[in-house]
Amino acid sequence: MYRAKISGTGSYLPEKILTNFDLEKLVETNNQWIVERTGIRERHIAAPDQATSDMALIASQNALAMAGLAPADIDLIIVATTSPDYPMPSTAAVLQDKLGARSVCSFDLSAACSGFVYGTSIANQFIRTGVYKNILIVGAETLSRIINWKDRETCILFGDGAGAIILSRASDQDQSTILSEHLYADGALNHLLDIPGGGSRLPFSQKVLDENLQLVRMKGREIFKNAVRTLASCCGEALETNKLTVDEIDWVVPHQANARILEALAKLIHLPMSKMIMNVDKTANTSAATIPIALDQAVRDGRIQRGQLVMLAAFGAGLTSGSILLKF
Ligand code: ACO
Repeated sequence: MYRAKISGTGSYLPEKILTNFDLEKLVETNNQWIVERTGIRERHIAAPDQATSDMALIASQNALAMAGLAPADIDLIIVATTSPDYPMPSTAAVLQDKLGARSVCSFDLSAACSGFVYGTSIANQFIRTGVYKNILIVGAETLSRIINWKDRETCILFGDGAGAIILSRASDQDQSTILSEHLYADGALNHLLDIPGGGSRLPFSQKVLDENLQLVRMKGREIFKNAVRTLASCCGEALETNKLTVDEIDWVVPHQANARILEALAKLIHLPMSKMIMNVDKTANTSAATIPIALDQAVRDGRIQRGQLVMLAAFGAGLTSGSILLKF
């Protein structure tokens, strides 16, 4: 078996920033309520001509540059997204073309906010078995297109953006490696966060459009409770599997949904907030993109260093969840 390491990270956030004060003009809300309940102050919004693959492209190019690789070196492309360019073809196939990559296996992965952790885990199997050497994993979302901008309970929470990593075969000398991975889905709770219309269950119709059933719906309180409990259990399981204590972890990069969820998580697992990578104040929830964006920012500003122990922890619609513990 080979080992996998992250050889490059990249991210992209669209230029336009929508602040809580801007939202005050759209729905009945206010900056103070949003900051107190979520920690979010602003979010990035894609330009009208930007789609998910456009943001994924820039994030991927940045990750390739850090890894010192060319598009032709990529053996597999995985795009985790809930807001693809089209129902078909896959955003990954569109990205493969835009990048100028070879004709390699390229697919989208649907696991909502846990999609990036799912994708990284899948990629790790291909590296470990020696099938592929360099894999591009992207989390990219244009959530602004699938949010109900009249629903103040959801529209304040989300933003657009993309993050990417290159997972590469580690050399014998490399200390960087993926140590463990755990993935879950609890489908019985799928009704807590969903987009009911526009699929095969309820195809597009005038009724779907009139009732906004093609947009995100959420039971916020239940999601909050489940997110805290599930993220804590994912982190605990990863520590136990690796026989590590929380004190030995350098950084936790969790899914960025809400600052209060992350503060509650830190308390439950006895992690000082200084070890939690958090950017939700500036990006809001970008679903599958939150973890790779936060990871890239922390790598580029020097917080995350080679050799450090980093835990990725995800939670999302499905309800999906998972963790990856790695030595960066
Ligand atoms: N501005 C002002 N008031 C609001 C807003 C708003 N944007 N939204 C709701 N309210 C009101 C409600 O109508 C309610 O009023 P009422 O008491 O008169 O009925 C009051 O504020 C309290 O509403 P709650 O829903 O109880 O507020 P809560 O403290 O639970 O916060 C929130 C709501 C922020 C949605 C919270 O439940 C939450 O963060 N949940 C997690 C959701 C999440 O992060 N989802 C992301 C997707 S999941 C994922 O990424 C995994």
